[in-house]
Amino acid sequence: NKIAVFASGTGSNFDAIMNAIDEGTLDAEVSLLASDRINAAVIEKAQQRNVDTVVLNPKSFTDKAAFETALLADCQSRNVEWIILAGYMRLIGPTVLNAYPKRIINIHPSLLPAFQGKDAIGQALDKKVKVTGVTVHFVDNGMDTGPIIAQEALSITEDDTKDEVRRKIQAVEHQLYPRVIQTLLTKENAK
Ligand code: GRF
Repeated sequence: NKIAVFASGTGSNFDAIMNAIDEGTLDAEVSLLASDRINAAVIEKAQQRNVDTVVLNPKSFTDKAAFETALLADCQSRNVEWIILAGYMRLIGPTVLNAYPKRIINIHPSLLPAFQGKDAIGQALDKKVKVTGVTVHFVDNGMDTGPIIAQEALSITEDDTKDEVRRKIQAVEHQLYPRVIQTLLTKENAK
């Protein structure tokens, strides 16, 4: 089960995936960590773990299709079967989508379809919702719109700061994402 992780940021979900692999609860190999941000902290995390890493700056390509063609080549040359988005802050375009139908998944820090897009936690706090959560979904051509695979809810209390909510969300994410990936792989391998 060869997977690629696409990430633009800190990489705590990348770490959770790697830990699950090390512990034997996720039967997969991360063949590639791809990032679109040269200074993303996730890159160093991947290098420390000896995960093959590519950093592609979209600005150095003529257009999105050219950028994605390069990204796709990096996946295909490593026989990547699944693309796991973990804090990847860019829409996946048709070049990559068409090459990996129903094989790209994302994790989002809200109970979708509520609070799509950026700063989902901030959006939830602004609305003063009492329950929020985490969603894992297939990626389609929209922003956080694809079919939902799994969700987990959590409560927000009145005196929770944004940092506290983020910590709660991430604790859920780090359990949920590796588990959902394992379930998907198992199902697909049984076909
Ligand atoms: C996570 O909260 C995820 O839900 C969202 O971006 C964040 C990435 O965090 N899509 P990290 O880089 O994995 O720490």
